[in-house]
Amino acid sequence: MDSIYQEIEALKKKNNAVILAHYYVPDEVQACADHIGDSFYLSKAAVGLDADMIVFAGVTFMGESAKILNPGKTVLMPEPGADCPMAHMADPEKIRELRGKYPDLAVVCYINSTAELKTYADICVTSANAVKIVKGLPNKHIYFIPDRNLGSYVAGQVPEKDIILNDGCCYVHKEVTPQQVQKVKEEHPKAEFLVHPECCQEVLALADFVGSTSEIISYASQSKGQEFIIGTENGVMYELRQKNPDKIFYPVAGGQICSGMKSVTLEKVRDCLKYHTGEILVDEELRRRAYSSLNRMLESGV
Ligand code: 13P
Ligand code: SF4
Repeated sequence: MDSIYQEIEALKKKNNAVILAHYYVPDEVQACADHIGDSFYLSKAAVGLDADMIVFAGVTFMGESAKILNPGKTVLMPEPGADCPMAHMADPEKIRELRGKYPDLAVVCYINSTAELKTYADICVTSANAVKIVKGLPNKHIYFIPDRNLGSYVAGQVPEKDIILNDGCCYVHKEVTPQQVQKVKEEHPKAEFLVHPECCQEVLALADFVGSTSEIISYASQSKGQEFIIGTENGVMYELRQKNPDKIFYPVAGGQICSGMKSVTLEKVRDCLKYHTGEILVDEELRRRAYSSLNRMLESGV
């Protein structure tokens, strides 16, 4: 009997498929991926792949973005119900209202958003490039959707802009509190605290480094430090430990879990390759409009 990894390998060859995985999916799923990374890396990796099929081990907005960028390829989600609640947290009516109020408004949309929300945006950003992209925009007024926390972080880094915040947030990162961080810092006084900008400002204020999942991994890998407190979803620990077997990583308060990401299993990866289930389909008109803001991000070269 073949191991499930051998089955997946054989099905990948048969379908000319590649597997993209985000750092938050379970460790054993990350282990079967051809490309693993943060949202920025994965959106770039999805373009121009020499494959007919993309299996996206992540949440829906990630598979949707891969389909928007690759309309000719089949994009499959191992778990089609793997959703990011924050991706829905902005109101098109409010966007219209603000566009009326500020004629120079740029709507900047975090890639953690539905295809529909992306159609209302001028440009998309990820947690890895949001500051640089917003800095480079000619517009003074920015409406940052859907994440209030990433928007606040960007506002702090780009004070010359007038950034209007939206009321969305990630339930996983919202759970991290300054009190929990203080406690783990007291337990491990030598550890540096590395945090994702989806956490609240009071938590970011305690950080030695703020960055996307890939940036957190690079920082820890390059640092001379030996101990780190990690303020993001537990899945990043897999790559952190693979790359840094001699360093020690502590979660905050037992760690954060994204249920959408954790609902992706090896069996579901195998089955979608076998039965071609969980296909992402995006209406062509919607795709074209969402493509424009995503592509503008990729073309910005930032
Ligand atoms: P990254 O942009 O670091 O991949 O994070 C994505 C995400 O969903 C964070 O919650
Ligand atoms: Fe969405 Fe938060 Fe999960 Fe990231 S960790 S996918 S923002 S729910």
